[in-house]
Amino acid sequence: MNAETLRQYLEFYKDLGIDTVYRRRGRGPGAKGQGTDPEPVSALASSPSENQSPSDAQRSAPGPRPPAPGSSSESLLQILSDIGDCKRCRLHEGRNKLVFGVGDEHAPLVFVGEGPGADEDEQGVPFVGRAGQLLTQMIENTAQREGMPLKRGDVYICNVVKCRPPENRTPEPDEMEICGQFLERQLAAIHPKAICVLGGTAARALTGHREGVTKMRGKWFQWRDIPVMVTYHPSYLLRPYNQNAKREAWEDLKKVLHFVFD
Ligand code: URA
Repeated sequence: MNAETLRQYLEFYKDLGIDTVYRRRGRGPGAKGQGTDPEPVSALASSPSENQSPSDAQRSAPGPRPPAPGSSSESLLQILSDIGDCKRCRLHEGRNKLVFGVGDEHAPLVFVGEGPGADEDEQGVPFVGRAGQLLTQMIENTAQREGMPLKRGDVYICNVVKCRPPENRTPEPDEMEICGQFLERQLAAIHPKAICVLGGTAARALTGHREGVTKMRGKWFQWRDIPVMVTYHPSYLLRPYNQNAKREAWEDLKKVLHFVFD
């Protein structure tokens, strides 16, 4: 297997929630047997509850919602100024721009990805590269097909970590924990009607569940009092070998859009 094929396999496994792969003993030079399984830490999860349908009360609530236990009176600007020129973890060392989030401060729907990539690091805006363009298309096209006049600017988009991990590696547990406090504050400030998490890393961070994304997708979880829908990360959908996942992601998105906007 050449290096490029191996890289694609590893990315594929990563998307399925498998962060560690083992070489079989005796297979290849220097094989050492098993390593240790790093515990993914969920800094953000609050009493996870899996696959409950969001309640009718949450579903129908017309007009302004009363302040809920998970909401705050902080503004996003306050949170941004608190982050400042953040050097709280090692990720600041390689960053060009901190990527805080983009969209409507009062959005009823928030999308949460893993962490900025190269394009996002350059522009300081989340999901503007190839994966971001796919996400924008998915949001706007699905909404249009379902008869909802929704644009990317009507939702809020952010990531678990605000600085690009080197070589786009998965953020480390301590990085997610340190940066996660700001994601929590963003979510509490916006207090959307639903959150849609993109990919296994963000899903595990926000829900506290440890399964791979293929097991979690399409199901409702909960962050504080807010329903959370899990779906695939758009960069996973860009890869050629998983066409089925695209259809599933569209199904997941339809579910969350109808819950929020019907
Ligand atoms: N991938 C992410 O998880 N977030 C971005 O902002 C871009 C790519």
